[in-house]
Amino acid sequence: MLDLNAKPARPLVAASVLASDFGRMADDAADALDKGADLLHVDVMDGHFVANLTMGADTIRGLRKHLPDTFLDVHLMVERPGEYIDSFADAGANHFSFHLEVCHPFHPHGPEAGVLIDRIHNAGMSAGMVINPYTSAWPVQTYLDKLDLVLVMSVIPGLGGQSFMPHVLEQARWLAQRVEPRTRVEMDGGLDPDTAPSAVAAGVDTLVAGSSVFKAKDRAAAIAALQGAIR
Ligand code: DX5
Ligand code: ZN
Repeated sequence: MLDLNAKPARPLVAASVLASDFGRMADDAADALDKGADLLHVDVMDGHFVANLTMGADTIRGLRKHLPDTFLDVHLMVERPGEYIDSFADAGANHFSFHLEVCHPFHPHGPEAGVLIDRIHNAGMSAGMVINPYTSAWPVQTYLDKLDLVLVMSVIPGLGGQSFMPHVLEQARWLAQRVEPRTRVEMDGGLDPDTAPSAVAAGVDTLVAGSSVFKAKDRAAAIAALQGAIR
């Protein structure tokens, strides 16, 4: 199993199963892993925080059953992430990332982010905080001593296959200069062999890739190109 807190020698590729064939997700994910992906990224959407509906605890349980040794990085694009911590841990998630935008005081009735992080850790998962492309990275600073991962969205969340938004490189660079060595800096959205080098140059060490992996004619080559993106 991948150790998320070990600083990787080259960028990690988190294959986003949102772009896989949903009718044969575990097989399609296994193929991406065979072809070199380091971990799987699982996008959970609730139809409220974003318009789309995708996967839940049962999907994670199914992936865990068929891929027992694979690190499952779960990204919750939901309004109430606290309601899913225990069920997702029980289903086999290794990592749980929630959006800053749903937390207090950004959301009037939102949870306190520090409490969520403690609950995620107590459930046995690593914890990540996500910011959207137009959210300031500054408030993330408060939680850096507790976080295992910070995730900078490089598209507006909700759909795969969108174009990379280069202005987010500034947020990633700012965070990468401040995180502990044990904390990963992840980017998500529109990453492919053309856009990944700029992310890596900004300090990103974990690249989420959906379309560019699952829709690639040559998945092994696409994954290798992402992993070979020069810092
Ligand atoms: C977008 C999701 C992403 C998505 C990325 O809301 O969070 O993880 O799968 O897809 P691509 O790589 O196709 O932009
Ligand atoms: Zn995602």
